[in-house]
Amino acid sequence: MAAKNGGVVARLDRVVDDFSKRARFFREPLTRGRARMFVMQHRLNTRQRNSVLKLRVATNCPDWDTRIGIIGACSQEVIADHEHGGGRAHWQILEDLGTRIGLKRGEIRAAKPLPSTQIAWAAWEGLMSNRHWLEGVVANVCAERANVPGYGTGTMKKHGWFGLERERWGALFGLADADLEFFELHEEADIEHSDMGWRAIERFARQLKMEDAVVEACERNLQVWEMYLDGIAAGGDRLG
Ligand SMILES: [Fe+2]
Repeated sequence: MAAKNGGVVARLDRVVDDFSKRARFFREPLTRGRARMFVMQHRLNTRQRNSVLKLRVATNCPDWDTRIGIIGACSQEVIADHEHGGGRAHWQILEDLGTRIGLKRGEIRAAKPLPSTQIAWAAWEGLMSNRHWLEGVVANVCAERANVPGYGTGTMKKHGWFGLERERWGALFGLADADLEFFELHEEADIEHSDMGWRAIERFARQLKMEDAVVEACERNLQVWEMYLDGIAAGGDRLG
């Protein structure tokens, strides 16, 4: 049976491309306030997603390799990444980045989630728990997919979302490549995590006849990501 407008991966790729082209956070210039707010919110967000939300998807997942792959990726995010991060969790690497753009570590740690961040968590809760596990796998990996080159335009298309961030954080704060490791490590790690997820989604969507459901899950989840990032932009603008 031919899927609508091409295979499921082609359809998912179009959804990610659309997100990469429309989200204000990518299209508007980075400012000091937005960068500072990104550090504070994204540190909290990566902890919440990888210690709570993605693990719910793992526990629902009947496929052993996929389940262990999720737990392994979460462990790199919240416990220690020996492969790409020199044994630090990704939120710790993000804290280190924050100290290089003028934030105090105590200030980063004291940050509270913005209302928009809390709404994103509530929305993802609905999209990642009490859902078919395959829709949850889409929720786990769809935003990291934007870190893979090929989506959006310009630098983002050439080097992925975090390639774009590396370029503009470097320019705005005068940081060297080594200082921007948070973004660099994700260009590598996310391509690996994301490819694993994308391949599994393709295989299982076909097997379970869930092509339309996974494409819709991808759309919905990226809408939440767009709102989360817009919230960071607005909150960052209030910081001045
Ligand atoms: Fe990460």
